[in-house]
Amino acid sequence: MTATRQFSPLDRLIIEFQHALGTSLGQAHAERPNPAGDVPELALADPDRRHAAGLMRINHTGEVCAQALYLGQAAVARDDSTRRHLQHAAQEETDHLAWCGDRLAELDSRPSVFNPLWYAGSYAIGVAAGLRGDGWNLGFVVETERQVEAHLEEHLQTLPPGDERSRAILRTMKADEARHADAAEQAGARVLPQPIPTLMALSSRLMKAVAYRG
Ligand SMILES: [Fe+2]
Ligand SMILES: [Fe+2]
Repeated sequence: MTATRQFSPLDRLIIEFQHALGTSLGQAHAERPNPAGDVPELALADPDRRHAAGLMRINHTGEVCAQALYLGQAAVARDDSTRRHLQHAAQEETDHLAWCGDRLAELDSRPSVFNPLWYAGSYAIGVAAGLRGDGWNLGFVVETERQVEAHLEEHLQTLPPGDERSRAILRTMKADEARHADAAEQAGARVLPQPIPTLMALSSRLMKAVAYRG
């Protein structure tokens, strides 16, 4: 017989807090192999290496935000299937987080020191979105994934020409994000009304400007 552990609200709070610290400060572990695999590492000139690191730091922080958003939404989702959808989406972002972290280390750099703040802000937005209902929850997933997909395309264009290892990672991430958006659309996402998509784009622009620098 299998006993199902019942978590108290305090247990759940502690688990969420541990996850927040692990995601924003710790080293994530990917379940899938790193897409950069044996793509050769070309020596980059210092300015190119710093630029690539700035872009990969943005992508790393973006994944921290996506996880926090989805887990905030999952914490208050009304429907079990929506909650599972959100938790699954957050889980898949862990691979992205780990790959971006690995690439930052290869580029002699590190994640943004502001990640705990971005995690907290995104988690709060996720809770606020989730309280509006499950169609809104999935609508936030679609909007987030579409915006991430667009900025990954931009990064694929603007990475230094020799940085094929970062490109291999971003190409896989972009295909995953498109799949995440399609799945949320099919699960019944509602289209978010203005000004929400514009506000999301503005906050991600602020995040990118800060994370690029450190
Ligand atoms: Fe992602
Ligand atoms: Fe995603």
